[in-house]
Amino acid sequence: MVLKNVIEDSLSSISLIRQWACVCLLGAAFFPAMAAQEAGPTPQEADFLARHWQGDTIPPQGSPPKDYSPLESSLSAADCGVCHPRQYADWKTTLHSRAMGPGVAGQTVVMRASDPATARMCWRCHAPLTEQQPLLQEPVDGTWVENPAFDAGLQHQGLTCAACHVRSYRRFGPPARGDSESSAHGGFSAQTAFGKSAFCAHCHQFPPDGHALNGKLMENTYNEWLASDYARRGIQCQNCHMPDRRHLWRGIHDPKMVKKAVTITVSGPQNPLKVGDTLEAIIRVLNSGTGHHFPTYVTPKVFVQAQLLDAAGEPVAGSLREAIIGRETTPDLSREIYDTRIAAGDFVDITYAHPLPSPGLHLQIEVRVEPDHFYERFYRGLLESGTAQKGRAAIEQALVNAQLSSFVIFEQTLSLDIR
Ligand code: HEC
Ligand code: HEC
Ligand code: HEC
Ligand code: HEC
Ligand code: HEC
Repeated sequence: MVLKNVIEDSLSSISLIRQWACVCLLGAAFFPAMAAQEAGPTPQEADFLARHWQGDTIPPQGSPPKDYSPLESSLSAADCGVCHPRQYADWKTTLHSRAMGPGVAGQTVVMRASDPATARMCWRCHAPLTEQQPLLQEPVDGTWVENPAFDAGLQHQGLTCAACHVRSYRRFGPPARGDSESSAHGGFSAQTAFGKSAFCAHCHQFPPDGHALNGKLMENTYNEWLASDYARRGIQCQNCHMPDRRHLWRGIHDPKMVKKAVTITVSGPQNPLKVGDTLEAIIRVLNSGTGHHFPTYVTPKVFVQAQLLDAAGEPVAGSLREAIIGRETTPDLSREIYDTRIAAGDFVDITYAHPLPSPGLHLQIEVRVEPDHFYERFYRGLLESGTAQKGRAAIEQALVNAQLSSFVIFEQTLSLDIR
């Protein structure tokens, strides 16, 4: 990859955005049980997962067993947190707990009236419990009716504890690690599938017939992992994203996590140099710590920038070059423009070349991450086209959040020995 002249991103194409486009929207079909493989689920685990994650919406919990206390009967994360404070404290800091944040809420509040089927499809991953659905579809004639069990507070919790752990009020979790003396909610069903990557695939992998561009699914994290050395070594999503079973799920929005994802090295320039020589340096970005492509989705972008600085630390005019790591599509997701993501274990070499106009120069390199690059444009487009209507305030908030999410993971200034 070669660093390119920085050109103005043509944001004008924003008007092409379809009203409710979402990068992740087309994966609603059920993810099929995978064949047994070393790192994949055993047949028993696959069976469990097929039952645990069936359909778009998790079936209604029904009524709690009579011997449950009100606390045990609650589906609310804060109530689970009374007895499971560690998981609750972790979960609250994550995007799973904010999966019904302003970006999603602002879109689905409008859709709810105009296109409830699409809204339900979004909630499949963002708020999947029946008790989180405001509307239900009559099986007989397909009409949408108010859901008497709807709990707006619970919907606001997004991907809440119960979505992963509770079915018909019964708790499911990984096998206990120690002896537990006390027991609540009638104990729990121990399932080794909780420790497998396949547990996450329901929402982090599109089915084979999901939306794809250039022959590549829009969401392919599980398959990327399956093709990597991590899968061969039995290193699951949980090993990196839930170390010691912690409910952390850090990803592209977390500077510390992203610094662990890649190793960046700069080689060259060959000192000493002469005025008039062309400086050449190679910036290598190695995906050394990500169990899938870096980054896995179309929404983030990673900007690698290099430029010359003069003795006063001022940029040398015209010397700034930029390469972008990510997958770029048209705003309506109909066409892929480029895909420079780095597969697990792979690297890219980015070449910086520029003539040296004078002595006393430095080469400055910076790598910046914009986790919500796509969404920033998308929200701006929604607001400009005036289509956000009822969800406008939420979309405005989502735009601010997206703009604030970028950070720098690498900075280096090399002094050049120019004679
Ligand atoms: C009244 C206290 C209490 C409440 C409320 C409660 N739990 Fe539990 N939970 C326990 C106890 C006690 C255990 C068994 C002890 C252990 O192994 O951690 C347990 C076990 C579990 C397990 C299995 C842990 C493992 O090792 O796999 C899961 C999962 C779980 N609870 C989830 C939940 C969720 C989700 C909620 C809220 C919807 C909830 N619990 C509410 C007390 C509670
Ligand atoms: C996205 C799905 C998901 C959500 C949401 C979630 N968990 Fe878990 N939870 C898991 C998985 C997966 C494991 C097992 C991790 C492993 O085996 O490495 C787990 C493990 C547990 C355990 C056993 C921990 C231990 O140390 O043995 C408890 C208890 C638990 N979760 C409670 C909760 C509570 C309470 C919440 C909400 C505050 C919650 N979980 C939210 C997926 C989830
Ligand atoms: C297959 C699961 C899945 C479905 C279905 C889905 N999403 Fe997402 N969504 C995700 C995941 C995973 C992310 C985080 C990765 C990313 O940013 O692309 C996400 C991120 C987002 C974000 C950015 C983060 C935020 O909270 O602001 C928005 C907005 C969003 N989705 C809206 C929607 C809408 C609207 C729909 C329905 C048209 C939808 N999603 C359907 C899985 C899904
Ligand atoms: C029920 C659907 C669902 C399941 C199951 C699920 N996730 Fe997620 N996950 C989401 C959604 C939706 C988001 C985006 C939330 C948002 O930003 O609005 C997300 C976000 C994330 C992120 C943060 C991404 C970022 O942009 O920084 C990580 C990491 C993650 N999930 C890992 C996991 C792992 C590991 C598992 C399995 C243990 C898992 N998820 C299971 C739906 C799910
Ligand atoms: C070897 C450790 C490792 C494994 C295994 C791993 N991840 Fe990640 N993951 C990372 C790191 C590091 C990041 C941050 C860099 C990035 O975003 O690519 C990340 C980022 C993410 C993100 C943020 C979105 C994005 O565009 O990158 C999601 C979602 C995610 N992982 C889900 C998963 C799921 C699901 C699995 C299992 C199928 C998994 N991860 C396996 C290390 C890992």
